[in-house]
Amino acid sequence: MTAQTCRKPLVSAVGVSKHFVMSESLLSRRLTGLSARQVMAVDAVSMEIYPGETVGLVGESGCGKSTFGRVMVGLLQPTSGQVYYGNTPIWGQKSIDRSELKHRAQIIFQNPYSSLNPRYTVRQTIDVALAARGVPPRHRYEEARSLMTRVGLSPDYLERYPHQLSGGQRQRVAIARALATQPEFIVADEPLSSLDVSVQAQIISLLEDLQNEYGLSYLLIAHDLRVVYHMCNRVAVMYGGQIVEFAPTDALYERPLHPFTRQLLGAIPGTGGRRRRNRNGRGHSPAQASFATSIEAESMIDSSQAHIANACQFWPRCEQAAPVCKKSSPELLSLSFGSASAFGASHSDTASGASTEPQGDRLVRCHMAHNRQ
Ligand SMILES: Nc1ncnc2c1ncn2[C@@H]1O[C@H](COP(=O)(O)OP(=O)(O)OP(=O)(O)O)[C@@H](O)[C@H]1O
Ligand SMILES: [Mg+2]
Repeated sequence: MTAQTCRKPLVSAVGVSKHFVMSESLLSRRLTGLSARQVMAVDAVSMEIYPGETVGLVGESGCGKSTFGRVMVGLLQPTSGQVYYGNTPIWGQKSIDRSELKHRAQIIFQNPYSSLNPRYTVRQTIDVALAARGVPPRHRYEEARSLMTRVGLSPDYLERYPHQLSGGQRQRVAIARALATQPEFIVADEPLSSLDVSVQAQIISLLEDLQNEYGLSYLLIAHDLRVVYHMCNRVAVMYGGQIVEFAPTDALYERPLHPFTRQLLGAIPGTGGRRRRNRNGRGHSPAQASFATSIEAESMIDSSQAHIANACQFWPRCEQAAPVCKKSSPELLSLSFGSASAFGASHSDTASGASTEPQGDRLVRCHMAHNRQ
């Protein structure tokens, strides 16, 4: 997709954390004496998304991607931190109106089988979204028909229930529902994960067409690094609820600096972790590529549980860990001008409208990253 640069971010997360409190079972309460346990799903994540760009978010299962995506569209309130649309916060005093937020931001959920209400026909599902946008009832049917056509489905499907649709058709309905509010920002949470390869290619192409047509921005959460390479302008790598590397796509794939990113890219079969774009500037089409890719890391450690006080979260799995990695937690640093500035400590510049346009710099959370530059 074409990177569109713009001076001001469309959506910004500033130091967003989300913790869940889990009540413990009677047995574990007796054994540990604790009645509740905290899951740090997202830990102080900052991210800016610019108009018309696609930012990829990758990481192993349970690292906090979906939770962060939900926080970005206001479905979950962060435990701390804030999300801004332009300069307007979405929580607290003087926050954006909820109906305006619904109108501006949408999410395509991870599983098209559970994200559609089984009791609603497609028409009813889209109707709810059109009503949220304030479309008068007499115009909704025509709008629903044209949305169906736009996502490549016959309007005849409007009267069907989700169980009467294939996975790819459900995902198209989910996209039509998202488009119904005419959003500017869509979180696509693994929109391809339950689809076969040829349908994946169709949905990718649809998402790209819609972006070009409506100037949408996407946060694309995905497990498939080939899809991320193909679609994204920048990629954030998450581990244990934190961003560990954030860089323009080419830079990240050609020269990953965090050891976890290297592990993930090394898991793409037959590439040695390095891939070249074809002459159109795009990666191989998903239909051409063999999609055996999984970025599940070798270890089955649940990274959301990997918080280690005063140490790098990744050191137990890191082949290059040094003594300092066990003693202090690295910050997310910009490496473009040396290890000069910490990222995400304060984004008041963003909120006040100052330029924070990405200049191709990369952010890495690793004590040893400067050795790999
Ligand atoms: N509502 C909840 N209550 C308690 N814990 C939760 C809740 N939602 C998510 N979690 C926990 O937060 C962590 C992050 O979950 P999340 O769904 O964001 O991960 P993910 O990166 O999207 O994983 P996947 O790739 O498998 O979809 C996990 O440990 C999960 O168990
Ligand atoms: Mg998820």
